[in-house]
Amino acid sequence: MTLWKGRIAGPLDASMDALNRSLPVDLRLLPYDVRVNRAWIDELARLGVLTEEEQGALNGALTAIAREFDEGKFDAAALPDEDVHSLIERQLTERVGDAGAKVHSGRSRNDQVATDLRLFLRDAAAAAGAAIDRLALALLDLAEKHAADVMPGYTHLQPALPITIGFDLASFAAELARDRARFRDFAKRANECPLGSGALAGSGLPVNREKLAHALGFARPTLNAQDGVSSRDAAVEFAFAASLAAANLSRRAEDGIIRASREFAFHRPPDATSTGSSMMPQKRNPDGLELVRGKAATILGRAAGLAALIKGLPHAYGKDLQEDKAAVFEIFDALVLCLDVTRAHFAETRFDTARMRGAIPAECAATDFADALVRRGVPFRAAHERVAGLILELEESGVSLAGLDAEEIARRLEIAPEEARWTPEDSAARRAVTGGTAPDAVREQIAKLRLMFS
Ligand code: ARG
Repeated sequence: MTLWKGRIAGPLDASMDALNRSLPVDLRLLPYDVRVNRAWIDELARLGVLTEEEQGALNGALTAIAREFDEGKFDAAALPDEDVHSLIERQLTERVGDAGAKVHSGRSRNDQVATDLRLFLRDAAAAAGAAIDRLALALLDLAEKHAADVMPGYTHLQPALPITIGFDLASFAAELARDRARFRDFAKRANECPLGSGALAGSGLPVNREKLAHALGFARPTLNAQDGVSSRDAAVEFAFAASLAAANLSRRAEDGIIRASREFAFHRPPDATSTGSSMMPQKRNPDGLELVRGKAATILGRAAGLAALIKGLPHAYGKDLQEDKAAVFEIFDALVLCLDVTRAHFAETRFDTARMRGAIPAECAATDFADALVRRGVPFRAAHERVAGLILELEESGVSLAGLDAEEIARRLEIAPEEARWTPEDSAARRAVTGGTAPDAVREQIAKLRLMFS
């Protein structure tokens, strides 16, 4: 059944029907469309377009439709409808009769779908936020446990300075706090209800849009009807928040993949997120993290697709916008899975703390030695040169700094032997500035971060 049979009599070409039909994708919006229909029906009853009896019958039918949906009774492939809105209108008409055919009074699928989508996006943002919370809290527990265990810190993927494992994990949580906040900010702006905008100019019936907005849990109606039906800012913003979160996760996944390699071996890829090889019996692959890295590409691509969808679209509505839902659903599903897999990965990760400490080369003391010279009044540039000279000389003679005892280092650099007696733990502890890698500074970061997640 089409909604426009009075205007266009002939059947659609099969290819057009396939291209046009969004039900297989937007059936997922059914619970939201039911809520939107309820709010609309109540408003139509208030205006006298529907009798109280019709209102009751329609609401009852909507309850049945929602229940049948939950029971999995709607199969998009077996249904003739173009989209979820036409499906519900047909169902209401079949179940209740004429009253069902009155439901679309003063309404357009344009304001309907914009409202459904916002309701979905608000729930999706809350669900993504909750997944971020779960991951961040797991990371913070692990950070607490390893607040004082040292590992190499890298720049350019070259060992730079010792850091604590807890510090590294807290840096991940700090990043997640921003990812989390982006979803909260998004929800504030998405708090406006398009329903009652009609096709674009505002409903022809004197509906109370404030009441409609409040009935659906929005703070207020959208300010302008044309903007209300045209804008997909909420979808694009959601996609952007998800993209950045996914890109950040992907980068962490890359750290994990490198560190799980045989060469680093800081931890084994845990059972819960690893797979083996069909051919090579020895393999244990960090597939979970690799898939996070891969899905991030999909999320970024989908987000770019959404921005492309709106960039040249004339106002108010174009059918192009039907494409928004598949993008948003894929982004949301992929992001939540990535967050949960990352959580599962860290929940089971056992760090080889001895190996991680052992991976810190003695040369990572160089900056601390230069700092010791600075404390003695040597200009930093000269101090840098003096320490670099020693490192270069050792490198050329094939000796590690670790091969020299403290007295020798002290003599060569002209620092005190106790300054030359270097451990990665002391080095980390010295960096006790706010935000630093010292165990106490890390514990302070963890305490602050805990307040940002729930
Ligand atoms: N299925 C459509 C979509 O997702 C609903 C809106 C259709 N509006 C229209 N004017 N044809 O965008």
